[in-house]
Amino acid sequence: ISGQTTVQLLPTEKPVEISKHIYGHFAEHLGRCVYDGFYVGEDNKIIPHTNGVRNDVIAALKELHIPNLRWPGGCFADTYHWKDGIGPKANRPAIVNNWWGGVTEDNSFGTHDFLDMCELLGTEPYLAGNVGSGEVQELADWVQYVNFEGKSPMSDLRRENGRDKPWNVKFWGVGNEAWGCGGNMTAEYYTDIYRKYATFMADWTNTGGLYRIASGANSADYHWTETLMKQLPKHLVKGIALHHYSVIDWKQKGPSITYSDEQYFQTMKSAWFMNELVEKHSAIMDKYDPKKEVALVVDEWGGWYEVEPNTNPGFLYQQNTMRDAMIAGLTLNIFNNHADRIKMANLAQTINVLQAVILTKEDKMLKTPTFHVLEMYKVHQDAQLIPLQIKSADYVLNGEAIPAVSASASRDKHGRTHISLVNIDPKVAQEVTIDLAQQRKLHSARLLTSAKLRDFNDFDAAERIVPTSFKAVKLEKQQMKVKLPPFAVVVLALD
Ligand code: AHR
Repeated sequence: ISGQTTVQLLPTEKPVEISKHIYGHFAEHLGRCVYDGFYVGEDNKIIPHTNGVRNDVIAALKELHIPNLRWPGGCFADTYHWKDGIGPKANRPAIVNNWWGGVTEDNSFGTHDFLDMCELLGTEPYLAGNVGSGEVQELADWVQYVNFEGKSPMSDLRRENGRDKPWNVKFWGVGNEAWGCGGNMTAEYYTDIYRKYATFMADWTNTGGLYRIASGANSADYHWTETLMKQLPKHLVKGIALHHYSVIDWKQKGPSITYSDEQYFQTMKSAWFMNELVEKHSAIMDKYDPKKEVALVVDEWGGWYEVEPNTNPGFLYQQNTMRDAMIAGLTLNIFNNHADRIKMANLAQTINVLQAVILTKEDKMLKTPTFHVLEMYKVHQDAQLIPLQIKSADYVLNGEAIPAVSASASRDKHGRTHISLVNIDPKVAQEVTIDLAQQRKLHSARLLTSAKLRDFNDFDAAERIVPTSFKAVKLEKQQMKVKLPPFAVVVLALD
């Protein structure tokens, strides 16, 4: 038996572009994300690298067209003093990473290392400034150091450290989780702090281009968004963040592979909750900003489970199964469909931490199911959103129901239409009838699924889960019928 779902593509009333920055990533000094993940050191003789950054990682991330990369945190950002990470590596101080495992941080990966790596990756850096334990002058200096072309104390210092031209970094976070690890502030107090920091983070590029992002709400803290929207002057803020993880229960997060059916359902429910969050936070923003000039920036999202057995609990290393592919497909559909307000988002985190797209083990690297969803969805980057209406069958467990199918659609600059569909139901296939509004030709169809829901890619079976070509599509005039298998992601391309 299959569920029955209908999707109708609607005419575009007001053109909305799906910003490529919705497909952003996040690299924190946490566990094995930066060290051992991206960076293995300039002197490494075993793992092929460019300036210490793994070549296999560079190639994989280029395949995703990653549009931006957030760094150095997370919670770490509000303890990070950027001047510790510049100049000759031998002279850089060793500090303790208090948030994540209490390990020694030797600062061998600092500002130059990160920004040069972004150039290698062809991605835009998103720097998270230290507001929690830093100083206004320190953050103002960082902006001058990386962005000022002329002669100044900070640009002179940059030149002394070997970089003549500025990097012109546009995206700047003014603190992180100010309500928690960023200082346990109230929304009212943070807005005042924000105004001060943002004022002195001058736009040294003189292009009017600094894109300042305020530390945003924790999930359903609507008061936080309301206060920021009310109190922050528009000329000082381009984006307001939001963090939401697909977590079952912070005290009992459950295993990353051997989760129960009930835990799977609860994870999906938490992933779907993103839709409500986006709509409710957006409604508040609409009150103060009806023209949608301030973006909602979901700069941390993804699944969060217990760490893998026998790994450091502070390193947040978890495996990535088809459940993660479901979170990714569903969440990105939500973001696409709200692209009028969401202009940027960052999956947490790129390598070896939380819902990673890449896992590494010594000289081996693998692409997780989440990687493949992002690769399949890259066709939506900078494409025009096609609004749609969906009537989904329910996925029901123990008397609770959530929609089984999610979808989003866009038209790229060559006129090709892409429709991404996700069926999160782990047992029931879905017959999806799509009304395309006009006659189309199928160009290609790709599928991501696996034999078992709990399957994952491992170092000795790195390609167990990869996209394949999808055949269960029938197209008649302007109607398409798609047979979506259980726990599957499909991307259709139509001309
Ligand atoms: O992504 C891991 C942590 O989650 C980040 O450091 C923090 O911002 C959030 O609480």
